[in-house]
Amino acid sequence: MWQQRCTRSAFGTVLSSVLFLLALFCYVEGEQIVIKGGTVTNADGQLVADVLIENGKIAKVQKDLKVPPGARLLDASGQYVMPGGIDPHTHLEMPFMGQVACDDFFSGQAAALAGGTTMHIDFALPTKGDLMQGFHDYQKKAAKACMDYGFHMAVTSWSAKVAADMATLVKKGINSFKFFLAYKGALMVTDEEFLQGLQKCREIGAIAQVHAENGEAVAVGQKRIFEAGITGPEGHALSRPSFLEGEATSRAVRLARFVNTPLYVVHTMSIDAVEEVARARARGQRVIGEPVASALSLNETAMWNPDFKIAAAAVMSPPIRAASHRVKIKEALAGGLLQLVATDHAVFNSTQKAVGKGDFRVIPNGVNGIEERLHVVWEEMVNSGLITPSDFVRITSTAAAQIFNLYPRKGVIAPGSDADVILLDPKVEHHISAATHHSRIDTNVYEGKRIMGKVVVTISRGRIVWENGNLNVTPGTGRFVEMLPMGPLFEGLDILDQEAMHPLGTTPVHHTHAKDEL
Ligand SMILES: *[C@@H]1O[C@H](CO)[C@@H](O)[C@H](O)[C@H]1NC(C)=O
Ligand SMILES: *[C@@H]1O[C@H](CO)[C@@H](O)[C@H](O)[C@H]1NC(C)=O
Ligand SMILES: [Zn+2]
Repeated sequence: MWQQRCTRSAFGTVLSSVLFLLALFCYVEGEQIVIKGGTVTNADGQLVADVLIENGKIAKVQKDLKVPPGARLLDASGQYVMPGGIDPHTHLEMPFMGQVACDDFFSGQAAALAGGTTMHIDFALPTKGDLMQGFHDYQKKAAKACMDYGFHMAVTSWSAKVAADMATLVKKGINSFKFFLAYKGALMVTDEEFLQGLQKCREIGAIAQVHAENGEAVAVGQKRIFEAGITGPEGHALSRPSFLEGEATSRAVRLARFVNTPLYVVHTMSIDAVEEVARARARGQRVIGEPVASALSLNETAMWNPDFKIAAAAVMSPPIRAASHRVKIKEALAGGLLQLVATDHAVFNSTQKAVGKGDFRVIPNGVNGIEERLHVVWEEMVNSGLITPSDFVRITSTAAAQIFNLYPRKGVIAPGSDADVILLDPKVEHHISAATHHSRIDTNVYEGKRIMGKVVVTISRGRIVWENGNLNVTPGTGRFVEMLPMGPLFEGLDILDQEAMHPLGTTPVHHTHAKDEL
């Protein structure tokens, strides 16, 4: 573009040089930024070094870097310099249970950036069962995006067309598909459909994700609790106990094993689910367990709060569990039994939640978290001494980049990687509150939570978008990030195929027979 402008210039060489430089300046994505003296923290270690950012990429990571003239200088002494967070589980502007989630791709992403998350992967839903139409509709919603995003696609029915659309979507940059074993009569698939979907995922190199709760039993549980006269939000917790999550996780893990395909269990909310993921991993199966921030920090008592607004705000599925689950989930994360932390950010405000005033079964499900995730994980996991800052980077960013085949473009501070960078100051104390958060929702499930350590700067693709408590974001600057299939989890699976069927092999044996049997 700048070349054209220069050749068209009718003025002398001096003017065209000036125009050239001006145009070049505009062409360069973002400014040059040097981050000085911080502790550069990646999943594999730490190092005190300077970081040079230009053209939206990380250009250099080294000690005593010379600051180029005109570059923006950020002093990061005493701070951690980390890859921006990747939230692999969000639902912006999602139509669900008769409502539409009140954070759209702009407000939700702005909130994310204010909390240090620079990419998210949202769940596109099919439109009237049509995957391609669903993808187009979500692309339209995402036109107002202000940061990088990708999509998973939900598969809520099965047909030859669905299978063909999955293959098409993989070519368009979607490398994961989600199946619901819950939400009977809405999103739920049968075991047969799930099995078909798993096989298709294996064939096209896409990750199968599962919402694991026994939807049949949940429907029975809801009816039973409601008919017993419990109509408030606590009925939500009572109607879908953790062992229904354990059962579905176990089933999903075993069906994935049967067809030898990687499985990603979204929102493991209970010890029951974690045990199934851990058991599968212990036998070498490629299973990923994703707890969400709310499971690390909250417990079910909120749903018993006499204030309906507070109680309904905590309704999500699977439900937030008793405090004992939270302890175990944190330990499992620290011990590597679970791999990464998401949010399931799906926000319905108190007016929207009030639809379920007389019936917990129709309270739109979902809690906030896209902005709070990094701070909650820092507080619950690092400040508690369970994990190191490098582990923090792994479970908030690097693991997601690796699983979804984005690494090392995302998830690491290294030359050539996207300049999605945060500065975290461990000495800044703050409190989470709906009064100060950036999401459109009027409640916050973490209301009042004290956090020691704060993301003070967020850089998204080379632009400073969050600094000194100010957001500098523009709708339409976000970018769809294509994710390629056949990621690291698929390597070597073919070698395991025979064994997966039976260790003695699956070629027919020619059996001999004794003469008298003939
Ligand atoms: C459960 O959550 C409530 C707030 O909803 C909190 O006051 C209480 O301390 C928590 N219980 C445990 C055991 O963590
Ligand atoms: C919730 O969102 C709806 C739809 O955007 C809006 O009409 C309503 O005023 C909001 N309620 C609150 C309490 O923010
Ligand atoms: Zn979800």
